[in-house]
This record gives sequence, C-alpha cells and structure tokens, in this order.
Amino acid sequence: MILTDEQKAILNGEKGETLAKVMESVVRYGELFGAEKLIPVTSKYNHLVTSFGLKALGPVYDLMNKLIEDGAISTQKFSVDPRPCDPNVPKNFLQDFIFKNFMYSKQDFYEGQLKELGLMDKDAFTCTCYMDEVGNKPNKGDVLSWAESSAVVYANSVLGARCNRNSGIIDIMQSIVGYVPYFGLVTDEGRKATWIIEVKTTKKPEAQLLGSAIGMKVMEDVPYIKGLDQWLGTELDDAACTYLKDFGAATASNGAVGLYHVANLTPDAKEQGEAIIADNAQVYVIDDAELQRVYDNYPIMWKNKDAAPKLCFMGCPHMSLEQLKSWTDKVEAGLKEAGNKKVVVPTVFTAAPKVIEAFEKTEYAARLKATGVIVSYICPLMYMNNPLCGPMPVITSSNKLRTYTTARYYTDDEILVQITKGGN
Ligand code: F3S
Repeated sequence: MILTDEQKAILNGEKGETLAKVMESVVRYGELFGAEKLIPVTSKYNHLVTSFGLKALGPVYDLMNKLIEDGAISTQKFSVDPRPCDPNVPKNFLQDFIFKNFMYSKQDFYEGQLKELGLMDKDAFTCTCYMDEVGNKPNKGDVLSWAESSAVVYANSVLGARCNRNSGIIDIMQSIVGYVPYFGLVTDEGRKATWIIEVKTTKKPEAQLLGSAIGMKVMEDVPYIKGLDQWLGTELDDAACTYLKDFGAATASNGAVGLYHVANLTPDAKEQGEAIIADNAQVYVIDDAELQRVYDNYPIMWKNKDAAPKLCFMGCPHMSLEQLKSWTDKVEAGLKEAGNKKVVVPTVFTAAPKVIEAFEKTEYAARLKATGVIVSYICPLMYMNNPLCGPMPVITSSNKLRTYTTARYYTDDEILVQITKGGN
C-alpha cells in the first residue's frame, strides 16, 4: 500500500506506540482487500456498532482502556448502536437475571468508556443515527468509517455517502487515525451496479420482503432497481426514506448488500442514470409470485409452529417518527375493527431515544400508550440473544430480526391483525 508521509509517520510510531498499532491494523485491513492507499474520513461524526457491554468482551474493554490511557482518541465524536436492555420491555425474573448477571453486566462500565472515547450525546444509542432527531446524518460524498450494516447501506444508498461494510472495532480504529482504505464502496468503480432488478409487482411491494428477495439473490453485489419509483415517487420524502431504511436493512442482512441504487430516486442513480450499471449486469425480475415464493420459503424456527405469539417486536432498524405516528393510527383502527381496547400480543415498537423524545411531544404518544404498545430504545436482536428469550414465540416484520433469531416474520398487515385481533 502506498502511504503518505504523514501516514508513514503514524505507522512508524512518531505519534506514539498505540497510534502506530491502530494504523497498522487499518493498513493490514486495507491490504486484505487489495487497497492501494488510504483516504481521509470526512464525515463530522462516526458511528460505532458495538453498543453492548457483553460480559465476554473482555479484550474489547482492555483495548478501549489502552486507547483512552494513551490518548489515542478520535477527533470525531460518534453515535453507537442501540442499548441491549430496557426495563420497560417485558421479561420474566429469570430472563432479567440472565441479562443483568450473565449477558450485559458490563453495560454501565462500557458506556463510561464510550463517553470517554467521544460519545456525541448520552442518548446517541440507535442504529438509525442518520435520522434528523439524532443528528448524525452524513452529507453526500462524505467518507465514513461505519460498521452497522443497516446504517451503512442507508448512508451509501439514500444519502450518497461512501462507506464500506466495515467490522466492529475497525470502525473506531479508522476514525482514530482518520483514514479508511480505498476499496469497494468508497470507489467509483465499486459503486457500479452489477445487477438490474426489475420490479413488476401489481402493488407496492413490502419493503422488508423486497429487500430480502434482492439480498438473497445479489448477496454482496450492487443492485440497480427499476420500477420501484412508481410506488415510492421520485423524491426522497419521509415516506420514501422510511421505506428505503427497512428495505435496505433487509438487503444487508438477508444478503450482504452495502449499496443499492433506485432508478429516478436515490442520489447516484439520479445523477448518473443507467450509466452507473456495469457492463454484463445480470437481471432479476421480481413479481408477485416471486415475492410469495420468498415468503413461503422462510423457515419457521419455533419449536411449536402453532404457538400463540408471546411478544411482537417492530422497529429493527429503529422506527422513524413518521412510522410511530402512522402505526399509532393503524393500531387504533385495527383495535376498533376487532372490538378490542388493547393489543392482544405484548408489543414493543423500538426507536432512537431522540425520536422517542420527539414522539412524546406529539398527541400520538398518549394514544399509542392507550393501545398498550410499549415504545422502547432497545435492540430486539440483543434481547433475543438471551438464551431464555430466544425460544419464545416472537413475531416481527423485520427481516433482519427473522434472519438472526428465531423470530417469525409476518408482513406489516399480518402483524397488525395479530396484535389487534389475534391471529393463529
Ligand atoms: Fe438496529 Fe438492532 Fe435491528 S441494531 S437494525 S435494532 S438488530
């Protein structure tokens, strides 16, 4: 790899032994992917994926301590993924005991380290850091050092920033030295689409299902999606951004997509049109039957496939303010139709603390509370990682949660029926 004099100086220890080791890690990481140089990180803030004080992460705490002690701290402040626990989320005594004593017993300690390392705000715990209420929204063209897959795909695709699908810890190391290796999605070549997706459905496709189908087909490649603008329009308004947030998270988790282009809608596609499609791109046509096929092939991981759901999680990735409001209307209408006063399945809607704060200021908050729905800042995946929570029959419309846990996927409409009427 060709390094500048400044980069070489850091690597040679002129700014201290710790920074030299951090630089060495970044250089080695880049070399693994064939990067020829490093380029500067340009975003105002960073975002870290490791948000949980898991007892087993001893080496991470040691590393963080070393960085703090030696002053190897980034000039970039950062947000971080959601907290793993929230007292408001239903759990029984034993599950709580496991959370507190065996799983996330180092949470307070780790949050202390994050503060010292540069947490941008005490409540900056969310995977949707790019929402206006949270304030970590990169500009178009910014080079980032993020690792959270749902945020990376959003930043690349919807915001036009540049970021690889980095791993945890590398995200902070790159930010500390201020450089990322030049390969993959930070290059013009790596942002070219190698798949053309033709959406030919008869109605607006479910975001999480469409994302899942595309992710499983293209894996880590870049898709160019045609036909979606007829359902989403050609402006990135709240509704389109919310749709793309959920769609993108599904592409990133059901496959390993880090960037997609939507014809006439997302920034790179609007700017470059079909010139962004590589020669010999493959084609995948998605119609109603294809989406149904994908849906029907999801394995049901519950021990008892006919069990009544014990919990419903919505908001993975975290819900937007607009989603919280529109779901308040939907839940109320569903309950009214079913003749019920409260949801019949314990239901948790998750969102960023700052989005929840904004939601609390609206009249929707009291209305949603009256339906029995709990609003939380938790990460549902970290909840499900508890060995006593995993076997519970949990339902969700998140395809990321379905992929990584035993939670069972239903479409948004099906979830609404389940939680307002009961469904099995
Ligand atoms: Fe966010 Fe946790 Fe889901 S980080 S995307 S809520 S798994």
